[in-house]
Amino acid sequence: MFYPEEVVEEVRSRNDIVDVISSYVKLQKKGGDYFGLCPFHNEKTPSFSVALGKQMYYCFGCGAGGNVITFLMEYENYTFREALEALAMRAGVELPKGEESAEARKQADLKARILEVNKEAGRYFYYQMKGNAGARAYEYLRGRALSDETIRRFGLGYSNMCSDDLYRYLKKKEYPDELLKETGLVKIEERGAKDRFWNRVMFPIMDVNGKIIGFGGRVMGEGEPKYLNSPETRVFDKSRNLYGLNYARTSRKPYMLICEGYMDVISMHQAGFSNAVASLGTAFTPGQANLLRRYTEQVVLAYDSDGAGMKAALRAIPILKEAGLSAKVLSLKPYKDPDEFMKALGREAFEERISQAKNSFLFETDVLYARYDMGDPEQKTAFHNALAERLLQFSERLERENYMEAAARQYHIDYDSLKGLVNAKGGRVGLVARGTPRSYRQEEKKEKPDGIRKSQRLLLTWLIEDKRAYPAVKGILTPEDFTEDLYQKVAAMVYEGLDQGNLTPAGILNHFINDGDEYKEVASLFNTSLSELTKEEREKAFSETVKRIKRHSLEEKTRRVTDIAALQELMKEQANINGLHISLN
Ligand code: CTP
Ligand code: MN
Repeated sequence: MFYPEEVVEEVRSRNDIVDVISSYVKLQKKGGDYFGLCPFHNEKTPSFSVALGKQMYYCFGCGAGGNVITFLMEYENYTFREALEALAMRAGVELPKGEESAEARKQADLKARILEVNKEAGRYFYYQMKGNAGARAYEYLRGRALSDETIRRFGLGYSNMCSDDLYRYLKKKEYPDELLKETGLVKIEERGAKDRFWNRVMFPIMDVNGKIIGFGGRVMGEGEPKYLNSPETRVFDKSRNLYGLNYARTSRKPYMLICEGYMDVISMHQAGFSNAVASLGTAFTPGQANLLRRYTEQVVLAYDSDGAGMKAALRAIPILKEAGLSAKVLSLKPYKDPDEFMKALGREAFEERISQAKNSFLFETDVLYARYDMGDPEQKTAFHNALAERLLQFSERLERENYMEAAARQYHIDYDSLKGLVNAKGGRVGLVARGTPRSYRQEEKKEKPDGIRKSQRLLLTWLIEDKRAYPAVKGILTPEDFTEDLYQKVAAMVYEGLDQGNLTPAGILNHFINDGDEYKEVASLFNTSLSELTKEEREKAFSETVKRIKRHSLEEKTRRVTDIAALQELMKEQANINGLHISLN
């Protein structure tokens, strides 16, 4: 952070969050809190809340959340510094200037400095491309039908022929070698420094807030590797970012389009499909699915039409479903990828393909279908059996019947026969008779990682919302019992605040603002919904939650412990949990 912690906290506490947000969003008072239409996603009924007491905002629809500083960062697209300066001005707080902040800058958080270098490098690549040295790169991009406006919007650039060009440029700006190494842009070896990227067309990769977290570089024409990417760094976690999401998240379309590559996203955006994102060469991850879930409920997969693209779609579907997203799959045939399709047929044809996109279940069963020879009765029967098995994944009867109907139509099977087959199989595994899918019953036994995380979130909300919670929890759970790293950090701060009687949830958030997206997760820790519980349920849920966290924490410890005495101690503690009396009163 560029400014000392006390200064940040002073600026924050002098700006009342309800006042500030009211000037952007129409808010209505409801109980102790305020509600309005969320400015970060498209909605018709208000799920955006501003809590006066906590001095935080949180959207129960899209999960956007934070304090007054992050609100300005997100709404105005300000950097942390810009937001802080605007708020300081608003409240008449004088910020330290000159030498002092230069000194503070030296200690600035490493991540913020890496982002700063990346931004500098991105700018440099862009101007290189615009200059003489980059003429060929510029021609290459124009040759791929990109307009000047598109090139600017995506910050495309060129890395010079000379193998230490960027390094020398950054050294002139007095960035230390240590820092440059951390960015992944240069390699510093005994014989000297080398740029990672040279003579390539450069694609800056931005996070949701538009900060450059890494780069991809493409050879112009043929060559290996076709794309070279930044390594993972402190700011670049490939599994938790999607290329283009910084623009797509504000597109206000009811679904997102997922493609494979840089050029796909760029040409889609150029054609007006500003809701396109890409997972960039890596397989689609749960982290990416959860990220998307903040902005949409529905996705359309527009992967390459080759075998690899189809496999990638098949792998992505269950991951999307697990995150609660519904998926459709679009066919680009006979073109290879969205970029080629768009060039050949244009936007209207693409719109049409979107409207024809296949429900992900039927996409999966189509792939299955292609593996059987329908001319052969034995194989045909095997297909019917496999199909019926798959239909069992739908535990809701009506939903299952809808899918049976669609599948019967698609594969020309008599509906009643298919239904009979599904029911026979379902009866055997107890689905149809008991109304519970097999997979659900199997999962119930072990604690799902998501369940325990949720309990920990719930308790953190409890600790800040209900004064009675802390005394009841204190002797039983320590911050170390929160097993997730981030939760542990936050719990330690909450405990400290409660011990000293100066807990400020919005102040705790200050510590996480420079860490990319982390503050959003912290905001969600303080806003898990308690309100749906009745009074008795609350009492019971509270004690269950505490026990659950303790049990999980002890299990984790048991797994790591190596000596017998410690193990026995843990087992004793485990045995004691059920007898604990934990009550809010
Ligand atoms: N990719 C990569 N490294 C490679 C090849 C591909 O990181 N050596 C990633 C890139 O993000 C690329 C995506 O995978 O955009 C899809 O790869 P591919 O289909 O081969 O490239 P296209 O996006 O079609 O690229 P272009 O149109 O420029 O040929
Ligand atoms: Mn392509």
